[in-house]
Amino acid sequence: MRAIGVDETTQDLRIIDLPIPEPGPGEVRIAVAATAVNRADLMQRRGLYPPPPGASPILGLEVSGTVDTVGPDVAGLAVGDEVCALLAGGGYAEYALAPAAQCLPVPIGVSVVDAAALPEVSCTVHSNIVTEAGLRAGETLLVHGGGSGIGTHAIQLGKALGATVAVTVGSEFKAQRCRELGADIVIDYHDEDFAEILRDRADVILDIMGAKYLSRNVQTLAPQGRLVIIGLQGGVTGELNIGALLGKRGRVSATNLRGRPAVGPHSKAEVVAAVREQVWPLVADGAVRAVVSARLPLADAATAHDLLDSPESVGKVLLTP
Ligand SMILES: NC(=O)c1ccc[n+]([C@@H]2O[C@H](COP(=O)([O-])OP(=O)(O)OC[C@H]3O[C@@H](n4cnc5c(N)ncnc54)[C@H](OP(=O)(O)O)[C@@H]3O)[C@@H](O)[C@H]2O)c1
Repeated sequence: MRAIGVDETTQDLRIIDLPIPEPGPGEVRIAVAATAVNRADLMQRRGLYPPPPGASPILGLEVSGTVDTVGPDVAGLAVGDEVCALLAGGGYAEYALAPAAQCLPVPIGVSVVDAAALPEVSCTVHSNIVTEAGLRAGETLLVHGGGSGIGTHAIQLGKALGATVAVTVGSEFKAQRCRELGADIVIDYHDEDFAEILRDRADVILDIMGAKYLSRNVQTLAPQGRLVIIGLQGGVTGELNIGALLGKRGRVSATNLRGRPAVGPHSKAEVVAAVREQVWPLVADGAVRAVVSARLPLADAATAHDLLDSPESVGKVLLTP
């Protein structure tokens, strides 16, 4: 099969030939309709985010497509089913293996290609703003990077849950798209300070900046506020004003989807099951949509990476083998 390989010296992406993988116990093989580009792929390409032990070294954390072979001990999936799936790696290829417990049906109203835009964002956003932070109707959710794949999903899920949603963005183009998706408060982080505008008001913050925003995020938290850090684009080491946090009876946590175990407590299987139960109905009724900025052939993976890194991309970039 054709897949995308990374040249370790130049970090160039190129088409390579690999044997079609065989599913093991509990796995299915998916004939890939599309995979989606994640920021993690750009980091893995640069050698900064190695795949977890046992995962495919091929890039790609999610795919959509048709079940092509079912491995031993799989219940509830059959050859020909259209699915999308959360992977630990291996999505940039014509065929990918997925644990059956990490597969979701293609939601009603979403094409099989565009379904590749959903598993990583819905699992990350739901597990953080709902399971981890317990966002409730009437609360205020601040989403940093509202135009990102994660951000565009978080805006929609936050609104569907009855929250007021604030976002930070870096351009008027992204600001406009965030408003169209339902964001109530849009802050351009180049010109405005979110901590001044939202001081003491955010019940939940979904943060992708890490150290750079830590102290301002704490200022922004409302009493009993919950700051969930999922990205470290602004650095890994920051100073936390514990006094300010204590005064607000606030909470800071950090989570990582890829490193979760496949099964058991806090596993990917648990996250996927919660998404199927609570997010998929919202997708089926149109309250939450797949936000896709481009669909490119698999061979154009390098262009897709450049696009994700550019200010023009809002939501997800897909690759179709
Ligand atoms: N922990 C987990 O399990 C997990 C899972 C998935 C993703 N993530 C993380 O979530 C983040 C988003 O992932 P993605 O794949 O959706 O990435 P993406 O689409 O590439 O988005 C990255 C975003 O960062 C924004 N950004 C850059 N500087 C910013 C700043 N100073 N303030 C606010 N926003 C800023 C950019 O927006 P502008 O162009 O507007 O600046 C861009 O939209 C990444 O950090 C990724 O590592 C974590």
